Amino acid sequence: MKKRIFSGAQPTGELHIGNYLGALKNWVALQDEYESFYCIVNLHAITLPQDPHGLRQKTLDLAKIYLAAGVDPAKATIFIQSDVPEHAELTWVLSCIARMGELERMTQFKDKGKGNAERAGVGLFTYPILMAADILLYQTDLVPVGQDQKQHLELSRDLAIRFNRDFGETFKVPEPYIPKAGASIKSLQDPQKKMSKSDENLKGAIFLMDSAETITKKIKSAVTDSGTDITFDESRPAINNLLTIYQLVTGKSGDECIAHFEGKGYGQFKGELAEATVEYLRPFQDRVNHYSDKELAEILKNGADKARAISSATLADVYHKTGIK
Ligand code: AMP
Ligand code: TRP
Repeated sequence: MKKRIFSGAQPTGELHIGNYLGALKNWVALQDEYESFYCIVNLHAITLPQDPHGLRQKTLDLAKIYLAAGVDPAKATIFIQSDVPEHAELTWVLSCIARMGELERMTQFKDKGKGNAERAGVGLFTYPILMAADILLYQTDLVPVGQDQKQHLELSRDLAIRFNRDFGETFKVPEPYIPKAGASIKSLQDPQKKMSKSDENLKGAIFLMDSAETITKKIKSAVTDSGTDITFDESRPAINNLLTIYQLVTGKSGDECIAHFEGKGYGQFKGELAEATVEYLRPFQDRVNHYSDKELAEILKNGADKARAISSATLADVYHKTGIK
């Protein structure tokens, strides 16, 4: 039997090349080998205020992005989180075994709540429990995500282990799959910060639907560090980040990248990086509107049916073991 993968992204903002290189690319690479579930986590999206009409549209747009990135509905299950009510139901049960202390340690809550717990939404606080429910419902083996989700995954593992200990073997304990290169792509304007959908500085992120002209402009105006060598160097985060993007979009090895740019300057490097990034995203951009609305609805309906078949069995087991049913 194939092992199982679960991952998801939030239908908020526009996806950027960090999402692509850190997560989506791996979802596509792994879908042959694993039975894969890729979810559009719209319930997570409302942990911060969303415009209702915009959210509905972005949810469908994100499904199109999964497909355009190469997630194949014949191989993988693509579905919308809210179409499978078991996610919200298991969240409640898990929130009864999760501890305030462990949630308080989550750095994303501190970041997104801007350090003001008094004013932060409770949903933002319990967000990682919903994520654990997503994963554990499917008896998931592997979760491909970027570095920023590692702590949330640890919590999912802890909740699975605790539930199994208290109520008997129920959940598989999932493993993270975090890529060696690309797990944390940085902002082009501030290489100390991760590239983010919500960055106020729009020049910091390359969005997947950016035009060739915009991509080129953003790369040309990316900040650089002191020193002139084009090489991987942890102490020079700007060039390190740009060269990582180059490596991933060209598929070259690290050594090939270094050799290729030996003796060359930033101007030439940025020109080649821009060209390679544009070429990399072009086939994706061409495919974004490949499916009609009707086809998309069909894919999502099938996806939800497949997801429910599995998640309802897990939830029934949980309700039985906890004495709810
Ligand atoms: P989100 O858009 O926050 O739902 O994230 C979707 C996926 O992209 C998650 O697996 C994140 O870990 C990943 N991700 C987000 N930002 C970055 C980044 N700057 N570099 C690499 N991966 C990222
Ligand atoms: N929290 C993840 C993010 O913001 C999205 C997410 C929700 C997720 N549920 C998940 C990722 C389950 C992997 C598995 O990126």
